[in-house]
Amino acid sequence: MSISYQEKDRIFTLQTERTTYIIGVTPEGYVGHIYYGTRLNGHVGSYPLRTGEPPFTPGVLPGEKCNFLGEFPMEYPAGGTGDFRESALEVLNEKGQRAAELLYDSYVIEDGKPALEGLPAAFAGGDERVKTLRLILKDAVLSLQVTLLYSVFEKEDVITRSVLVTNNSSDIRTLDKVYSACLDMDNHDFEFLTLTGGWGRERHIETNRIMHGRVSVGSLQGKSSHQEHPFIALLTPGADQKHGEVYGMHFVYSGNFKAQAELSQWDMIRMTMGIHPDEFSWQLQPGQTFTAPECVMSFSSEGLGRFSRNLHDFYRNHMIRSKYLHEDRPILINNWEATYFDFDTEKLLSIAREAKKAGIEMLVMDDGWFGHRDRDNSSLGDWFVYEKKLTGGLRYLVEEVKKIGLKFGIWFEPEMISPDSELYKAHPDWALQVYKREPSQSRMQYVLDYSRKDVRDYIYDMVASILHEAPIDYVKWDMNRSLSDIGSASLPAGGQREIFHRYVLGLYELQERLITEFPDLLLENCSGGGARFDPGMLYYSPQIWCSDDMDSVERLRIQEGTALIYPLSTMGAHVCCAPNHTTGRTLPFATRGHVALAGTFGYELDITAIPQEDRDMIPQQVEMYHKYHMLVAEGDYYRIHSWNDAKPYDMWGVVSKDRTEALFTHVQVLVTPVYRSCMICLDGLDPAKSYSVKEEDGINEARDMGVFTGEELMLVGLQVAPARGDYRSRLYSLKEV
Ligand code: DGJ
Repeated sequence: MSISYQEKDRIFTLQTERTTYIIGVTPEGYVGHIYYGTRLNGHVGSYPLRTGEPPFTPGVLPGEKCNFLGEFPMEYPAGGTGDFRESALEVLNEKGQRAAELLYDSYVIEDGKPALEGLPAAFAGGDERVKTLRLILKDAVLSLQVTLLYSVFEKEDVITRSVLVTNNSSDIRTLDKVYSACLDMDNHDFEFLTLTGGWGRERHIETNRIMHGRVSVGSLQGKSSHQEHPFIALLTPGADQKHGEVYGMHFVYSGNFKAQAELSQWDMIRMTMGIHPDEFSWQLQPGQTFTAPECVMSFSSEGLGRFSRNLHDFYRNHMIRSKYLHEDRPILINNWEATYFDFDTEKLLSIAREAKKAGIEMLVMDDGWFGHRDRDNSSLGDWFVYEKKLTGGLRYLVEEVKKIGLKFGIWFEPEMISPDSELYKAHPDWALQVYKREPSQSRMQYVLDYSRKDVRDYIYDMVASILHEAPIDYVKWDMNRSLSDIGSASLPAGGQREIFHRYVLGLYELQERLITEFPDLLLENCSGGGARFDPGMLYYSPQIWCSDDMDSVERLRIQEGTALIYPLSTMGAHVCCAPNHTTGRTLPFATRGHVALAGTFGYELDITAIPQEDRDMIPQQVEMYHKYHMLVAEGDYYRIHSWNDAKPYDMWGVVSKDRTEALFTHVQVLVTPVYRSCMICLDGLDPAKSYSVKEEDGINEARDMGVFTGEELMLVGLQVAPARGDYRSRLYSLKEV
């Protein structure tokens, strides 16, 4: 049983295969945190909550509340009564005063995993061991009920958390902050790991020492953002792929967030995650419940490698619903960097014909096919075909592409409106804007007010009618700016700080409608590259565009950071043109293919114009994709080396769950004057199995390297010869013999 309650000691124990989480309740009803870490296999029951040492608990022991709250490891701290660390909940009463105190009321342990209303959330997915604990806490003065949800996913060592706040009073309660999770524990000299970056360099891994005070990441851009990612981890010093402790929190949400670690005077650490409280406030009406988005929490005592593999399994088994999750996805060719806005039906068909010859399976028509869009200064919101470009219409184009033998995909940016559009002329108030101020433009566009149902319905109908017009197989849903000028014509003054959250709920509602009405559609989310790559979006689409930077060397870092927490099957990755449009660098075509193989795989180049020798390589890459993609998508991921750790090469691998097959990719980023091969120790293999090893460089015939045991390959190593030239890459495929 993964969740148990010991009545005598008032202790709740949550067990996964490798971790234990313990919650205790003091005699007064404070709900405190006792332990999270390596699984305890013995008796669990009498671990003390820290209430016996001064300052004593208020109530049964003669202590002062302020002192007590200042150091008590609280499971879900409310602000205003004396805990001066970061609070998880801020509530205003009918007088506008802020204070809450949550005391234990009751609990429920139930089978399975509840859905969260209007929000993406993990599901049990057929795993009967998944259980949920509801801890019901109450504030008697406010007549407020706070339910803490903990769902335990034993196999993946994950505990998801969420919070329901119910107003049982007859007055409005203003919620100024509702975090989704808090974890209080003693500091183990933790380091703080984050994924940071910017456009074209999303999710770079960064690790820093934690000092006293607060260190946080967040977004106030209305999306999870390029710059900071809704993920934080605490690491014991020296933690690496195989060793050390890792505590991680990952937010299933696509809007503003704040994730923080706070080191207090008592050397205790408080880790929190939730909707960013700046720009948030919610008027909770009598009888209503506010649902906080889900936080995925995981612990590994076997370093980052185990942590990554657990999260990969968790997202594959319990978050991604798409039927395409376990399928070989069509190899696509996208025309964005091939043509930008300069295309017409004939150009697209010429790409499709050439693509078909090479074995590519789907044409994706990107930005520029609607309204009168010749560049990025118009037409967002006018989701009707630009006849000048698509002569004969959309249906004709799609049918012609299908006759050639390819599937067809299309691009939308449904959350935006161009000042130069029919839609804006008709409904200028549909753009987010602050009273009497002209909204700020970004990429010459405004943001639609998705807090409004009439706006959402109108846009949805336009998108749906395009999808009904022709047999479309795939949609790329893009979002190319941050939210500013947060004002809605349809909400009262008191509701304006609800807009950011209502926007995200509106977005989720539309994506839910889309995949419900078009269940066969393959949806790929995107946001100016990877600015909205988060578990919330994964609930709707099995893949997300990773970054607009397709330079394979840049991608090594982006994909390493992304793969730290997301399965490889989710990472939108394409072979780009040369020189690369972001960096100006020309990399070998084979390397571009090998790096894109670590993601969804596709092409983003003008196949009619690339050098013949590159074009000739595509059929071989297509074969490579079909040979290895399911292994890449479903296997266990092992990070062997990172060129960010001052190595001249980068190497990762994927091993099948039954350990009979594996694929390791080696990219020699910079050639060093090392003229002898090096022995690189692999990971994840079965030491007792024997594997035949082949080396493929994407150009020459595969080379048989011989048969080795898993033990040899992991301890003695794989002999990797020096590469002749920068940026050369090789695949090492292993098969049990
Ligand atoms: C940003 C996306 O990341 C690109 O792939 C492309 O679709 C452009 N938007 C189109 O405007």
